[in-house]
Amino acid sequence: MADILRVSHISKQFIRSNGWFKREYIDVLDAVSFCIDSGETLGLVGESGSGKTTVARCVMGMLQPDSGSITFNGNDMTSQDRSLRQTVRRQLAIVYQNPYLSLNPHFTLFELIAEPIRANEKTTKPDLVKRVVLLMGQVGLSEELMARKIGDLSGGQAQRVAIARALALKPKLIILDEPTSALDVSVQAQILNLLASLQSSVGYSYLLITHDLDVVRHSCDRVLVMSQGSIVESGNTNTVLDTPTHAYTQQLIAATPKLKYSTSNS
Ligand SMILES: Nc1ncnc2c1ncn2[C@@H]1O[C@H](COP(=O)(O)OP(=O)(O)OP(=O)(O)O)[C@@H](O)[C@H]1O
Ligand SMILES: [Mg+2]
Repeated sequence: MADILRVSHISKQFIRSNGWFKREYIDVLDAVSFCIDSGETLGLVGESGSGKTTVARCVMGMLQPDSGSITFNGNDMTSQDRSLRQTVRRQLAIVYQNPYLSLNPHFTLFELIAEPIRANEKTTKPDLVKRVVLLMGQVGLSEELMARKIGDLSGGQAQRVAIARALALKPKLIILDEPTSALDVSVQAQILNLLASLQSSVGYSYLLITHDLDVVRHSCDRVLVMSQGSIVESGNTNTVLDTPTHAYTQQLIAATPKLKYSTSNS
């Protein structure tokens, strides 16, 4: 399989102010490297503050790494050419943990899902309505909900809106940053199954960021384990979870008491 995303040795420091004139440099990412194959789900796990969202923000082009390179679909995402970066960014989408916080509460579902299309393409109102209805159908939402606002929906329905919005520009890679952490367990499984069925019908690649090893076991082909800004272990999901070699991965697994989902990785 050809890789769609190649992240090579990216590093990032943040400056933390420590009193009036004191500044501390913190290494948040330290030479992080990985690839995602076309149509694959790559898991990224690690403790809070290990740098997972910072990796996502670098891949999305929201943050520039201090060093290293990111190549998406053959294009250099760290290039100085802003218009090239913006064109490439349209093939990437991100879904966040909490749809009630990440989506504008004043917009209707139609406006939320239509917004990325309106911002990037010339289209007519009837065409826009058709596309929004299609996207709502793809994520299992009835078109009757189109005039509702995000606050009127259940957690699972709201996350489906976030996914429909992510699909709107037909991305190749979708970053899922803790997409099920805010949901009840039964709804978590429905969202993971929806993501899996979209992947098998359309062929999306996913970078799935999670704290939850059950989610990794259920959904990921391969997994990266991150600790303090570095990838400490990576490999096939079952191999890493069944025979972890790094002490940190062993601790993570020891702290996970039981399986919520089926162990099938398909
Ligand atoms: N803009 C910023 N300025 C300064 N420090 C930051 C900034 N963004 C993140 N950090 C720090 O970088 C580290 C990594 O943050 P990041 O959000 O990537 O972690 P994470 O692995 O996604 O954590 P979580 O699982 O809690 O979401 C943390 O110590 C965080 O405080
Ligand atoms: Mg995070």
